[in-house]
Amino acid sequence: MAVSIKAVRGTRDLLPPETETWNAVEAAVRDLFRVYNFQEIRTPVLEDLQLFQRSVGEDTDIVSKEMFAWEDRARAQSEKGQWLALRPENTAGVVRAYIEHKLWERPGLQRFYYIGPQFRRERPQKGRYRQFYQIGAEIIGPTSAGSESPAVDAEILEMLAALLDRLGIQNWRLELNSVGCANDRPKYLEALRAALKDMVDTMCADCQRRAQTNPLRVLDCKVSEDQPKIEKLPRQSDYLDESCRTHFAEVQKLLAALAVPFVLNHRLVRGLDYYTRTAFEFTHGSLGAQNAILGGGRYDGLSESLGGPPAPGIGFAIGEDRLVMTLQETAGAAARPTDVYIAPLGAGMNVHAALLARELRRADVIVTLGDESFKLKKSLETASKMGARYALIVGENEVGSGQFALKNLGTGEQVSVSREQIAALLKSRA
Ligand code: HAM
Repeated sequence: MAVSIKAVRGTRDLLPPETETWNAVEAAVRDLFRVYNFQEIRTPVLEDLQLFQRSVGEDTDIVSKEMFAWEDRARAQSEKGQWLALRPENTAGVVRAYIEHKLWERPGLQRFYYIGPQFRRERPQKGRYRQFYQIGAEIIGPTSAGSESPAVDAEILEMLAALLDRLGIQNWRLELNSVGCANDRPKYLEALRAALKDMVDTMCADCQRRAQTNPLRVLDCKVSEDQPKIEKLPRQSDYLDESCRTHFAEVQKLLAALAVPFVLNHRLVRGLDYYTRTAFEFTHGSLGAQNAILGGGRYDGLSESLGGPPAPGIGFAIGEDRLVMTLQETAGAAARPTDVYIAPLGAGMNVHAALLARELRRADVIVTLGDESFKLKKSLETASKMGARYALIVGENEVGSGQFALKNLGTGEQVSVSREQIAALLKSRA
């Protein structure tokens, strides 16, 4: 036998019945996005590598270590090859599209959502995959349309709290920080670098590397021996300029008024370089080490760094894999079973079964079709095994008389019903 081919490391098949939960989650978020007036945007999975280098940042782990990127061959001798990448996240693609299609010419703020796969070559573990799915949203636009307002931050956070509550996820925790802006960041980085200079030699290898390349990320270190040292480092909150300070205070005031609980975490820095001001994560205890269900924040300078006009923005992305995992571990959402298994009995009955199935499905009944070659016993066994609620027997006598035998597979009770009554009966006992 030939060697079998498996799904690539870090990717996986989502199978029924789990896909039911995925669909239920997506249906719930689409409903919610509608009332908050977000509209869907779909950007390509494939982008120019430079897009991520200039937005997420060349010194981040995501871009420096985890990209699926390759040089795409030129199609003609005269053309140069192009470096392409599978998107590791969707904010950069949305802002690229905003610039490319001059979306600032549309009135007001642009409010987009997306649902789709993202790719990062990380070490796979529980809750961490190389192909994973995000549900995200972005609000972006000119300052004159209100894009910089702390009310937008509060609206996004209130929506996320409502979403998790609506899905029945309890005990989530919202961690909040302000990471400052282009005006105060250099002063903070200078203070951080100075403080690190004296102690970094005694810290872990990752910290030593990050102290050079991306000192903010030192705050994210989880190595226990480093923790007392990190606690002594200067805090971003002491370096925020006046406008960032008032902005952050206003976000907190609005959240308190909306009764959205949060905790301040001065070490929350996020793994992407484009963030300014408000940064946040929602975590959940059931997830283990990879405990962030979602993350996001402001990116007020991102459009300019991609060659666009000033367009402050804020957004988030939920890890759908982790959201579904949390739901399964806490609630255990069940798929809707087959309402009725139709058992055609004998030659020529498949067509009658198909006609009946069409009628019932039009009435929103979930139908599974058997086959006329099956013996009745086999049909009933198959129906029971798949968890169907009823079996409907379609033989020559039934078709002739218009009266069908409907068997309740839970109780074993069998009734004779007319064709017109079947759908109503199945639905009344759903
Ligand atoms: P992020 O924090 O890199 O932010 O990712 C958001 C969420 O995606 C994480 O909280 C996590 O739930 C999920 N996630 C990330 N990597 C993996 C993985 N390897 N396997 C499974 N789930 C994963 C962003 O991507 C930003 N674009 C969010 C944003 C939107 N900020 C502003 N707008």
